[in-house]
Amino acid sequence: MEHTLAIIKPNAVKTGYTGRVLSRIEDFEFTMEAIRLLQLSTEDAEEFYAVHQQRPFFPSLIEFMSSGPIVPLVLQKTDAVTEFRKAIGATDPEEAGEGTIRRLYGESKERNTIHGSDSNENARIEIEFFFPGFFASI
Ligand code: CMP
Repeated sequence: MEHTLAIIKPNAVKTGYTGRVLSRIEDFEFTMEAIRLLQLSTEDAEEFYAVHQQRPFFPSLIEFMSSGPIVPLVLQKTDAVTEFRKAIGATDPEEAGEGTIRRLYGESKERNTIHGSDSNENARIEIEFFFPGFFASI
């Protein structure tokens, strides 16, 4: 699998870090294949994060992810899913390695600036969520 889905989250877009995050993604030598700027409705966010429905942080996560514009991206690289998870670092920015995107620009476990797909199967589902027909067009 050569593709993964990234999302620059509302905290980073709002505070003007979109360009810096994109630049860091390029530092890690990912190729951008698709990009959008949009705001999720509550229903869209609930659908995207359905896998976390039973978690205690779910209501807050939904409120946050629908609170402002986000930037979803399709990224390409060999082993894109694994490599991008290395580039973003741990969920909690305080636990993320030096130079990772969450360490540099994350604020908290929830407001951690960037999402990356956690498996090839989910990458495909998540890419089609934001970019319907992507795989049919390549
Ligand atoms: P993300 O990669 O987008 O996938 C699920 C998100 O839930 C995760 O990033 C975090 O933003 C959020 N999350 C995960 N664990 C917690 C937690 N313990 N408290 C608050 N938010 C969390």
